Amino acid sequence: MSVAEPDGRPDEVRLRDRGPAVVPLDLPVVRAGAASATGGEGGTTREVTVPDDPRGNVALCRCGHSAIRPFCDGTHRSRQLGHDRLVEPPDAAAGPVPDDLGPSLVLQDDGPLRLCGGVSVRLPDGTVVAPADGTGLCRCGASTSRPWCDGSHSSCGFREHG
Ligand code: FES
Repeated sequence: MSVAEPDGRPDEVRLRDRGPAVVPLDLPVVRAGAASATGGEGGTTREVTVPDDPRGNVALCRCGHSAIRPFCDGTHRSRQLGHDRLVEPPDAAAGPVPDDLGPSLVLQDDGPLRLCGGVSVRLPDGTVVAPADGTGLCRCGASTSRPWCDGSHSSCGFREHG
């Protein structure tokens, strides 16, 4: 699912209220290797194939229930996804990221979307925040500190696939 966000900055993720994270098409989205995702050394990343879209943006699922994860398929509309709140990211939101990346988004296996290289976040109310590198955005929909990951993906059994 792609959406039009013509005024977005190239290194800014826009959060739709109770909806997806809208990402500029030129902002790389990669998957972290298992080692990187857990803090070990030697992790690798691989590009995620993002479909071309003439509107120049792509929407990533934040409710945890899209059938085409990591992308949004509109399923959030039938879910009771809470509103985002302007809160400090909890400690659990911090995580390691590969150090050879520029501005990019890293999909942690069965976990959050990690912000790398100074990527900022525009909340639904228009507030722009600049979280520390490695801060995770919740992708499972279960965090009580949304939009940030609080580690709930482990207890709720979030799986990227299936
Ligand atoms: S992805 Fe970590 S709490 Fe949702």
